[in-house]
Formats: sequence, structure tokens, C-alpha cells
Amino acid sequence: MNYSAVREASEFLQQKLDKKPEIGLILGSGLGVLAEEIESPITIPYKDIPDFPESTVAGHKGQLVAGTLKGKQVIAMQGRFHYYEGYTMQQVTFPVRVMKELGIESIIVTNAAGGINEDFKPGDLMLISDHINNMGDSPLIGKNDEHLGVRFPDMSNVYDKSLIAHAEACAKDIQLHVQKGVYVGNTGPAYETPAEVRMLRTLGGDAVGMSTVPEVTVAGHAGIRVLGISCISNMAAGILDQPLTHHEVIETTEQVRESFLTFVKKVIETLPQN
Ligand code: 6GU
Repeated sequence: MNYSAVREASEFLQQKLDKKPEIGLILGSGLGVLAEEIESPITIPYKDIPDFPESTVAGHKGQLVAGTLKGKQVIAMQGRFHYYEGYTMQQVTFPVRVMKELGIESIIVTNAAGGINEDFKPGDLMLISDHINNMGDSPLIGKNDEHLGVRFPDMSNVYDKSLIAHAEACAKDIQLHVQKGVYVGNTGPAYETPAEVRMLRTLGGDAVGMSTVPEVTVAGHAGIRVLGISCISNMAAGILDQPLTHHEVIETTEQVRESFLTFVKKVIETLPQN
């Protein structure tokens, strides 16, 4: 990965931002509304940022929004890059490296995911305790630049246990029931077959999606503390007797919007500093 490109993008952004961001936010399908709550927002379209790819999928906007949320300095990706769009792993994770360069210490990564765990139901929020990289690729493949992290990063606590405990306490405070489990990252863009879903369950997966794993791998590499939240937008294939549609994914995320917003804002408001 090219550290000078990271520097160039971050220097471009620094000229536009008035304060150093503390918390990065990656907002998944249908969850970009959180960026609309940012006060004194500075909005920067991806297409204006040097070396940034452009987002293509319906339900995703393509811009960074920086400002204040619940008293904290945040920078949000409203819309992310997916591997299935044809971007390389380096492109998918480039914004995380730029946010690190801008100074973020923590990142909240959100997504819509299919429920594999049969105790889950559409509309549940799941705190990600761990992930399985089932994408057959890694953003860390290639020459390692020590500016960005070590060659062989430890992934034992990449979903920061203290952040999970904090999020659980916040959920309890607002009387929101949250699930906790393992996120499987698949490439997509096809949803899994029922046989694949049974396999992933056997392997220890609780939810499956098409994102997050690359970004979190790079965040771990960069030493950023990660909180991952999946919105269970539908059950994975073969569990319910119904086909899967992107429409359902967006519809469910719209239904949970209020509790999702309340929850994440509470997490941010009371997030312990490093
Ligand atoms: Cl069921 N699978 C995958 N891979 N991604 C999803 C999903 C399912 N539901 C929402 N996103």
C-alpha cells in the first residue's frame, strides 16, 4: 500500500476540516442516516478526494461527513466501497488508512447482514465479537509499509472488548436488546446458497455480509479500536421460506433506523477516551 497516497488524501482533507476527528464511522446500507445527525457538518464527496474510489451501489451515498456528534469529533463515510464492485482490497480500505492518518483512535463499523443464527430475527442489532474472513483475499497482502502497521498483525482483540462492554452497557441503559456474534465476510454479490449458510453456521458464523472484514483488518493493522455493529436485515438463505432481496435489506434498516440512531449516538456520547 502506498503511504504517500494516504498522506496526500489526508492532507487534502485536513485543509477542509477545522478539527481533528476522534472517531471514524463507516455507515452501511440504509444506515447512512446517522451522518445526517452530525452538527456543523463538512461534507466532502469521494470524487473530490485524491485517490478515493467512487461508490456505485443503490442505498449508498459517496461522501465523507465530518463534524460534531454528541460532543465528539467524528468523520463518517456515508457509503463504503465493496469488493464485489470490483475495487481492490486496497481501494476498499483506503479510507480507513486516511482516517487513521487524520487522527482517529476508534472506529464504529456498521453493516446490514443476513442472520445465520436462528435465534436472531430481522431488525436485531448484533455487536460483532469477531469475524471470519471468507473473502479469499486480504488488504494486507503485498509489501508491508511499516508506517501503516506491522507485517503480521495480531487479530485477537480486533473487536475491542472494552468497546463491546461499553456498547452493551449503553444498550442496557436505553433498554435495547442487542445480539452478539461472529460476522462472516463473503465477497457477494450473490447471497449465499442454503448449503453455504449451513456451512457458515457450522463454522461458527452468526451473521453474514459482504463488507466490514477488509476495513476491520486494516483498522486492526493500524491499531484503531473497532466497534462493529450489524443490522440483521433478513435471515440468510434457507432459514425462512422466502427469497432474499436488496429491497428487504433496505426496508429493514429503515425500520430499525430510530433504535440504531439512538444506540450509536449513546455509544458515541459516552465513549471512553483512550
Ligand atoms: Cl443473507 N448475505 C450476505 N452476504 N450479505 C447480506 C445478506 C446476506 N443480507 C444482507 N446483506
